[in-house]
Amino acid sequence: MCGIVAYIGSKDVYPILIKGLKRLEYRGYDSAGIALLNGDLNVYKKKGKVQELENFVVGKSTRGNTGIGHTRWATHGKPDDTNAHPHTSGNGRLTLVHNGIIENYASLKKALIKDGHTFHSETDTEVLVHLIEAVQDRYNLPLEEAVREALTQVVGAYAIVVMDKNDPDKLVAARKASPLVLGIAEDGFYVASDGTPIVEHTKKVVYLDDEQIATVLRNGSYEIRSIDNELHTPYVQELNIEISKIEKGGYDYFMLKEIHEQPETIHDAMRGRINAGEKWVKLGGMDDYLERIANARRFVILGCGTSWHAGLVAEYLFEDLARIPVEVEYASEFRYRNPVITEEDVVIGISQSGETADTYAALELARDNGAFLYGIVNVVGSSIARLTHAGSYIHAGPEIGVASTKAFTGQVTLLTLMALQIGRLKGTISDEYFAELVSELEAIPAKVQRVLENNEKIAYIASEIKSANNALYLGRGYNFPVALEGALKLKEISYIHAEGYPAAEMKHGPIALIDENMPVVVIATNKSAYEKIASNIQEVKARKGIVIAVVTEGDSVISKMADYSIEIPDTAEPLTPLLSSIPLQLLSYHTAVLRGCNVDQPRNLAKSVTVE
Ligand code: G6P
Repeated sequence: MCGIVAYIGSKDVYPILIKGLKRLEYRGYDSAGIALLNGDLNVYKKKGKVQELENFVVGKSTRGNTGIGHTRWATHGKPDDTNAHPHTSGNGRLTLVHNGIIENYASLKKALIKDGHTFHSETDTEVLVHLIEAVQDRYNLPLEEAVREALTQVVGAYAIVVMDKNDPDKLVAARKASPLVLGIAEDGFYVASDGTPIVEHTKKVVYLDDEQIATVLRNGSYEIRSIDNELHTPYVQELNIEISKIEKGGYDYFMLKEIHEQPETIHDAMRGRINAGEKWVKLGGMDDYLERIANARRFVILGCGTSWHAGLVAEYLFEDLARIPVEVEYASEFRYRNPVITEEDVVIGISQSGETADTYAALELARDNGAFLYGIVNVVGSSIARLTHAGSYIHAGPEIGVASTKAFTGQVTLLTLMALQIGRLKGTISDEYFAELVSELEAIPAKVQRVLENNEKIAYIASEIKSANNALYLGRGYNFPVALEGALKLKEISYIHAEGYPAAEMKHGPIALIDENMPVVVIATNKSAYEKIASNIQEVKARKGIVIAVVTEGDSVISKMADYSIEIPDTAEPLTPLLSSIPLQLLSYHTAVLRGCNVDQPRNLAKSVTVE
């Protein structure tokens, strides 16, 4: 939700900002803007993608060794040039980029207008830069003090970087509930919403904590203070991102690359955590808390979007293999519902980014009620990773396509390992079944590779359904969450309205929608309910629906009933989502491409939702 990049040092800042913004574009692409300091202050902003900004800047001055940049996902004010960041103070001295929401901006704005301030945009951000200016003027403060003082008056979430034209050798950055990373290099300092714009310049980073303010100087010195003006010793960490992982590497879209990375990312999620030969599963993150986790009265799983779907798969896994009752909740509903949470609950937060505002706040609420928090997160060092008592990273590498793919299978892999380890400890799973699942799990990456070999066939099926206005996804048991996820993928990137349903529920509503124009994707790999799913397909066919069935290799019954079928290798039922989700990712990808959609940057969406 909005990307920030900034630099101060000896290098030319313009290319650093543009490249950085392109890396951060997944966080929002309603507008982009930069401000460059070079004695003069040049601010360039443009509605649309970073490319539009680049075109706009051609022929203009890009000089400067200090600058800030922003790519926006609009909250307050429509996406246009005026509302684009950076925003400048009334006296033209300060410029600021902001990610987050200033909740009390209306009252602050009213007071500032009373004091003679004039605003040009509809944004909360412009209010913040005017507030800092007002504080700076009133008390004649250096920039960092003015920022600190102003932030004490602010309610809401922010990650900001501010420049002062009269103090050109300094940048001030601050955060609360929106991420910010400081990169420390020989040639200067980098600040960004995540490590991707920083990694090719330095691997030494400091993740700012909530209510911390960093002041960085061109001479190489820096300090971090809390909003209460306490000095903090920075914890410098190594940034663990491979550049090849944040580039497209020959693929047309990041999403396609990320789909194809799954044999490797699933393997990485299991690396060192499983051994089929020796028959063990061990998550280091659970080590010190095994008793507490295994003896939980229940698990509550919190997430949003695709992560919530991974949570639904986990409900089946934990109940099936570890016999622990599970509730899966939309984080946004949970946090406002006065939920019943006790110290005997283990609350699992699932988040690719580790920054989703609703998931974070819901976890905080659970923690305040005494629950033990376990995080399943991809982005190392992210807010949710730091908030939870313990957790496991999925190690999927940066996921850039807005529609989540490899993070989903990574999350499901991790949750499967968790269920197996707990089930083994509790004795709720037999030795034989444990051994079978562990060796099946080890075989999954190679089987995913085989699913990917259906790419061409799936592209052809996409060409047959690309003009549909609606689609239905049906699945039972472990494949029900997969149906939800398949439908979400299709609507996110191809803008075809799609719904996922438990196959048997079709009769209670969606069947009324079925006609010869309605593609119905049926995930029909279940062994336990095979006959029932076959009947559901007959019901669809009787109403002339177009059936696309995902079946097990060698299937001879359902594949004959369906108009199109996609085979996936056989596996143990609890592991099916790791295979059956993949053709659905490819189906939505190809459908979106054929409809001319921007797969990696679907309209109105953002990768990391750091606002409510
Ligand atoms: C956004 C993204 C989804 C993601 C969801 C939750 O909606 O577009 O792909 O599943 O947020 O994000 P998280 O980072 O918490 O998994």
